Amino acid sequence: MANVTFSSPRMPKDLTVYAVAGDTQTLLSVAQAHKVPLDSECENGECGSCLLKVSVLSGKTPYGVAMTEKEKVVLRYAGKITKEQLELAETSDIPPPWRLGCQFIVRNEDILVTF
Ligand code: FES
Repeated sequence: MANVTFSSPRMPKDLTVYAVAGDTQTLLSVAQAHKVPLDSECENGECGSCLLKVSVLSGKTPYGVAMTEKEKVVLRYAGKITKEQLELAETSDIPPPWRLGCQFIVRNEDILVTF
């Protein structure tokens, strides 16, 4: 189980939900299941409308993850990933803070999601 806290000026208050990790649930699908007003258009890692920031709570290092090429391209065009972050993602699978909700798979870690 993972605690996922959504925070946005578009919500009256923060919302924490429990998500089952490991079943390839995306953050976008978790948001939709709980009526969190996260934008989405393509749901396929191409439009960038589901852009959000992920912080791992309790000071732990984020789980390594292989980002899709689509996500890297969208983040680069949106100016939300630095060259260094891109390098870390490609060489060490270290995820950058800005992600796409439709591409982020919920893992067994507590996270704060801001958008
Ligand atoms: S909904 Fe288009 S990139 Fe996620």
